[in-house]
Amino acid sequence: MKFTGKTAIVTGGGSGIGRASALRFAKEGAAVVVADVNSIAGEETVNFIQATGGKAIFVYADVANSKQIQELISTTVSTFGGLHILCNNAGIGNSEVRSVDLSEEEWDQVIDINLKGVFLGIKYAIPELIKAGGGAIINTSSLLGLKGQKYMSAYNASKAGVVVLTQNAALEYGKYSIRVNAIAPGVIDTNIIQGWKQNDRKWPIISKANALGRIGTPDEVANAIVFLASEEASFITGATLSVDGGGLTF
Ligand SMILES: NC(=O)c1ccc[n+]([C@@H]2O[C@H](COP(=O)([O-])OP(=O)(O)OC[C@H]3O[C@@H](n4cnc5c(N)ncnc54)[C@H](O)[C@@H]3O)[C@@H](O)[C@H]2O)c1
Repeated sequence: MKFTGKTAIVTGGGSGIGRASALRFAKEGAAVVVADVNSIAGEETVNFIQATGGKAIFVYADVANSKQIQELISTTVSTFGGLHILCNNAGIGNSEVRSVDLSEEEWDQVIDINLKGVFLGIKYAIPELIKAGGGAIINTSSLLGLKGQKYMSAYNASKAGVVVLTQNAALEYGKYSIRVNAIAPGVIDTNIIQGWKQNDRKWPIISKANALGRIGTPDEVANAIVFLASEEASFITGATLSVDGGGLTF
C-alpha cells in the first residue's frame, strides 16, 4: 500500500472528487481526515472508509475560515501524530451571469473559498509537513483555471489563482521536500455540475466538449490526486495536471 503510516487531509471530502480521493487514500493505507461544511456527507465518507477497515475521522471545517483550518490541522496532528498529505479540494461555482451582474458578495465568497481556502491550507499545513520531514499538497484547480469561460468570472479567477499559488508554494518549500501540485479537472460527474446537466440546450455540448467526447468520473480525478501525492510523483512539483479528457486542447 502506497500510504501506510501517512496521514492525509481532504477538504470537501464529503462529496464528489473529495470523497473519491478520501476513499482511495484510505484504501492505500493512509489515515484520512475528511473536512467539509456538510457534516452529514463528511461523516458518510468516514463511515464508508471505516466499513472497509480504513482509518478516518470527520472534522467540520470551512476552508475560508482561518480558525477552523488551524483547528483542522491541530486535530489531525493530535489524532494521528502528524500530517503528510493535504488535498485543498473544497470549492464552489458561481452563478452563471455576466461580470456586471455578479454581486461583489458572490465574488468575495467564491474567491474566499476557492482561492483563500487554498492559501489557508498551505499556510497552516506547511509547518506540520516540515516537521514530518516533507510531504505533498495537491490543490484542485480546474480546466476553467486554464482558460476563460463566459459567465464564470469569479470561478475563472479563483482557479487561475490556484495554478500560480501552487507554483509559488512549490518554489518556497521544495527545499523541505514538500511537493505542491495542482490538478485541473474538466467536466466531472459530481454535484457541482448538476445545474448544467438539467440544461437541455447546453448539456449535449458541454458533456462532449473534449477529445474523448464524454464527462469524467470522480474516481478518474482521484487517480491523479493519489498519483501526485505518491512517491511515484517524487520529481513532480509546481505542475498542474489536466484531468479533462482533452478538454483544454479541444
Ligand atoms: N465537477 C467538476 O466538473 C469540476 C471541474 C473542475 C474543478 N472542480 C473542482 O473540484 C473540487 C471538488 O468539487 P466536486 O466537483 O467534487 O463538487 P462537489 O460539490 O461534489 O464537492 C464539493 C465539496 O466541497 C464542500 N465544500 C463547499 N464549500 C466548502 C467550504 N467552504 N469548506 C469546506 N468544504 C466545502 C461541499 O460541501 C462538498 O462536499 C472543487 O474545487 C471544484 O471547483 C470540479
